[in-house]
Amino acid sequence: MNAAVASNTESVQVTPLSAFIGAEISGVDLTQPLDTHQIAQIRAALLKWRVIFFREQFLTHAQHVAFSAQFGELTLGHPVFGHVDGHPEIYSISKYRKATRFEGQALLRPWTGWHTDVTAAVNPPFASILRGVTIPPYGGDTQWTSLVAAYEKLSTPLRDFVDGLRGVHKFTPPAGASATSAFEKAVQQRALVTEHPLVRVHPETGERALYVSPSFLKHIVGVTPRESQAILELLWEHVTRPEFTVRFKWEPGSIAFWDNRSTAHLAPSDIFDLEFDRQLYRTTLVGDVPAGPDGRASVALEGSPVNAAAAVALN
Ligand code: SIN
Repeated sequence: MNAAVASNTESVQVTPLSAFIGAEISGVDLTQPLDTHQIAQIRAALLKWRVIFFREQFLTHAQHVAFSAQFGELTLGHPVFGHVDGHPEIYSISKYRKATRFEGQALLRPWTGWHTDVTAAVNPPFASILRGVTIPPYGGDTQWTSLVAAYEKLSTPLRDFVDGLRGVHKFTPPAGASATSAFEKAVQQRALVTEHPLVRVHPETGERALYVSPSFLKHIVGVTPRESQAILELLWEHVTRPEFTVRFKWEPGSIAFWDNRSTAHLAPSDIFDLEFDRQLYRTTLVGDVPAGPDGRASVALEGSPVNAAAAVALN
């Protein structure tokens, strides 16, 4: 078939994977432009299921960018850690990019490693689209959790309490990373620190999400350090409860597309105990500035907003 005239006329099927989060999408070829109905169906599935998965979509970097651009403006690959040479919108997620991060095993808690992408920025990307290329035969699964389900399953008094709180998010080196590591140098060169509400109102659905990205949220504003730590540990334990999560087994050609306004996710750590390689590529879509139930927006304490890659290229 001539790619220039290929069309994408299949109808999108949505198969849910758990009670609160995750659905597999089939009946669509992501190497081709989508029609407006397919875009609307995929977007509706993303809002409802928060992370959606596609199988057997063997995209090039250019096709990955083209697919992503149908849902929003792309950011540069990563505001701190850069991008793939020649592909400003693509961020490489390779097994060894942060190989030092588990040296601090003693500091691990069940929520260690869970995060929402780039919440140290005042406008974290609204969505991320991750494409599997080299996948281990076993191990290397990714998990996502619904921050909306987590919020809704808090007791009413606790919901009322967290509704008014705000927290400071920043990038810090992983436990055990040396002061001279490439990770730390990158973080120092591009400091990003933001105060976000602890409860974020989703701009499209109006739902409230417990916006507590465990790896980046460092403390709650206006309370003592001990109070902050105790409250955060309670909330982090809560958001990572298995019933709010879905676990995805990657294959080459798999794609995960998630809403960062209502989810957190956990990259696998078992890959460091396996000899297999693992290589994925990610794009992210420019997000808005979060607001809490009281309408107060997030405030950048250090660093500038994450702009569209196209805008950055013009500067
Ligand atoms: C990510 O945190 O965006 C990557 C997740 C993964 O490597 O599975």
